[in-house]
Amino acid sequence: MEKKICKDKMAVAKAFAHDFSDMVKREGPIHVALSGGSTPKLIFDVLAATYGQTIAWKNIHFYWGDERCVPPTDNESNFRMTQEHLFSKIKVPKTNVHRILGENQPQGEAMRYANLLEINLDRVNEIPQFDLILLGMGDDGHTASIFPHEIDQWNAPDHCFVATHPETGQKRVSISGKVINRAKQVVFLVTGKGKAEKVRDIFHEREGHEQYPAALVRPTSGRLTWFLDEDSASLL
Ligand code: 6PG
Repeated sequence: MEKKICKDKMAVAKAFAHDFSDMVKREGPIHVALSGGSTPKLIFDVLAATYGQTIAWKNIHFYWGDERCVPPTDNESNFRMTQEHLFSKIKVPKTNVHRILGENQPQGEAMRYANLLEINLDRVNEIPQFDLILLGMGDDGHTASIFPHEIDQWNAPDHCFVATHPETGQKRVSISGKVINRAKQVVFLVTGKGKAEKVRDIFHEREGHEQYPAALVRPTSGRLTWFLDEDSASLL
């Protein structure tokens, strides 16, 4: 479990953008699952500004680790956030963007997306394998939309499932922990003081850390990197 500690959020964005540009310097197709929430906004802005003209975007297929069950135009939509901060600034073929259809009935969409992953990705022991999965982590230790109160969904039998946000009750479609841990490479992008306690608990394997879904991210490939800023790493 590698960690890269950068001064601040901008430094995380620059460091990740550099590494990402190296990761994708090869023949496609490269299948990447994106994280949502607010952390990726600056990261996507920097990626587009720094490498927008140099990365061969046509080789990259974009998916999401999770999506809120809202229309793609909704402020809560991870697709909309990615459209605003990345896709609107780069030339990526529309056929390379495989969004989770948040406007669809959740259970039906979870099944549809799971089938899409089966069709588009190689499978290893029946589990679709991403080349790269980006993850964030909530203050409660959730990742993708696998929340502590639903941690049994980590081993959901299907590749995707319908999650419920513990505070808002918002429905979300998420990939399972099995899909996360099958990825060739997983990168956490975690910044801010609010994450520091959980980062410490996970890295120090403190009592009860296994109740945090983010602590269960252990890709069998062994390629797991945490990009942290000094705030989120302040208790390490
Ligand atoms: C989502 C995410 C989620 C996110 C964390 C961190 O849809 O919200 O995929 O897992 O990465 O909640 O969110 P912030 O980046 O906003 O802190």
